[in-house]
Amino acid sequence: MSGGKLATIGGVVLASTGGIGLIAGCGESSTAGTQAAAAESTDLPWPYEKFTAADIDRAQAIAHDSWFEGFCTYAVLSGIITVLKEKVGGPYERFPIEAFNFAHGGTAGWGATCGTLIGAGIAASLATGSKGGEEITNEVIRFYSDTELPIYVPDDPKAQISAVSKSGTPVCHISVNKWMAKQGVGFLSAEQMERCGRLSADVARKTVELINSHVDGTFKVLEKAPAFSLGTPAQTNCSACHGDNVPPVPTPGGGESLIGGH
Ligand code: HEC
Repeated sequence: MSGGKLATIGGVVLASTGGIGLIAGCGESSTAGTQAAAAESTDLPWPYEKFTAADIDRAQAIAHDSWFEGFCTYAVLSGIITVLKEKVGGPYERFPIEAFNFAHGGTAGWGATCGTLIGAGIAASLATGSKGGEEITNEVIRFYSDTELPIYVPDDPKAQISAVSKSGTPVCHISVNKWMAKQGVGFLSAEQMERCGRLSADVARKTVELINSHVDGTFKVLEKAPAFSLGTPAQTNCSACHGDNVPPVPTPGGGESLIGGH
């Protein structure tokens, strides 16, 4: 293509040499044309290379530090995507992480789903496709809900914290308030921010471990999502909010499971 002009039409690179246009797919330019089209493709899944133990450590450190730049969703995505930019490049280099900052604080501060889990789902979907993304997110949420967090201890903590807590739910409001009550601090304290930074690192690790196993073919759905096991979308711990009087769900379960039902 040296000396020729390059034009992009419909995402396919056309090489023009001295007035005669060579259209990708005809003759010698086809390989270059195919490669260019493949490099530009944004179809899922995107190319993925398994993270080594060192890659995971690096993703965790970036996730923790990035929390202080763009909060939880941005933190998890930064940790994973930054390493993928280096290892794989391609479409990850043009991925606009900042487009997902809004999901912090349980979506723009409304205390709904913890933003780390949104980041986990996006990264898992990019690396394994939309079905894999949903399956992996289901497992990440179970880990998040059932585990005393945070686990990660950074080299450069921004505050000293000691409390760990089990959220029992993916809900930001419950998760962060349970932890703050245990640590005895309020929202936007240095301690709470440090906790959410460490939590982002924990979620980044779990997500990458599950993406690795998905790519290996060893990933297993351990439990269906509540929507399919309980017959209603839920955070599983009905009695946490309803006490002993859990209202019966309007329609009994039995819908086809999108997760684990195949
Ligand atoms: C995070 C708290 C929370 C959890 C966990 C939760 N619910 Fe609810 N649920 C609510 C709130 C709040 C309402 C609305 C109550 C109202 O406005 O009267 C509600 C409403 C309902 C309703 C509508 C009928 C009614 O009486 O309001 C049903 C049915 C229900 N929940 C079932 C469940 C089941 C089953 C589970 C567990 C699988 C569950 N919920 C888990 C908070 C929760």
